[in-house]
Amino acid sequence: MKITVCIGSSCYLKGSKSVIKELQRLLEENNLQNQVELCGAFCMGRCTEGVCVTVGENLFSLRPDNTQDFFESEIQKNFL
Ligand code: FES
Repeated sequence: MKITVCIGSSCYLKGSKSVIKELQRLLEENNLQNQVELCGAFCMGRCTEGVCVTVGENLFSLRPDNTQDFFESEIQKNFL
């Protein structure tokens, strides 16, 4: 499984660095760092929806403060 976080300038300004840090923390805490690949990507063309994050074909609009909810509902459920 792969999570791609946009690090283009608009998403960066909206906190993509914090989103990545938070995802790294959550992956480590749940021992999923070997099963989930975390990648960065440049502008995904949806700047108004940033921080843009994709999982497979699905695009999510995250903020640092809703990253944990995203993780619990979209990532963790695949490994329960
Ligand atoms: S900078 Fe993230 S979608 Fe454009």
